[in-house]
Amino acid sequence: MSHPTARIRHTAPGDGARLKELTAASKAHWGYDAARVRGWVETLDFSDARLRADELYVADVAGRVVGWCEVIPPLDGVCVLDHLWIEPEWIGRELGSALFQFGVQRARDLGAGMLEWESEPNAVGFYERMGGRRLRETTSEWGRPLTVMGLDL
Ligand SMILES: CC(C)(COP(=O)(O)OP(=O)(O)OC[C@H]1O[C@@H](n2cnc3c(N)ncnc32)[C@H](O)[C@@H]1OP(=O)(O)O)[C@@H](O)C(=O)NCCC(=O)NCCS
Repeated sequence: MSHPTARIRHTAPGDGARLKELTAASKAHWGYDAARVRGWVETLDFSDARLRADELYVADVAGRVVGWCEVIPPLDGVCVLDHLWIEPEWIGRELGSALFQFGVQRARDLGAGMLEWESEPNAVGFYERMGGRRLRETTSEWGRPLTVMGLDL
């Protein structure tokens, strides 16, 4: 759950612009159309009220946000990992696993017995490395087939 360089902290008012920029860069890492990615990022809510109140956490390296995740509080014992994004130049440096493990612990602390998430197709191998298993298929907001994965807590 810890990382040698990054500090994981709750989001704070004012983080929104950086989170928007980071999320677009991270999604575009897989080669998706830049305009489509930008349009999608604009639909995300990074209002100060949400950054203050919801379960959003960032990986912060010397004051710069380089990754983030969100845990949706449990419904019927299931938490959802709704976001996990790493700045491209930080990919492969164990930040994804640090944020994922943080999310796992946070879900446990919130009383969940299970964590679920929709996996970006290019990230399925990462989640399997984290112990996740394939639960079912779904269709993304872009109309693509996506795998819903889960981890028993
Ligand atoms: C997927 C993502 C979160 C992984 O984060 P990361 O910081 O690069 O991952 P880590 O460095 O912690 O890697 C942990 C382990 O998973 C493996 N791994 C990482 N990405 C992988 C991938 N895409 N496929 C298969 N294995 C992967 C690593 O090799 C490492 O294995 P090891 O422990 O045997 O050395 C990151 O690549 C990312 O943000 N991608 C773009 C956005 C994205 O796809 N987000 C997920 C949305 S559902």
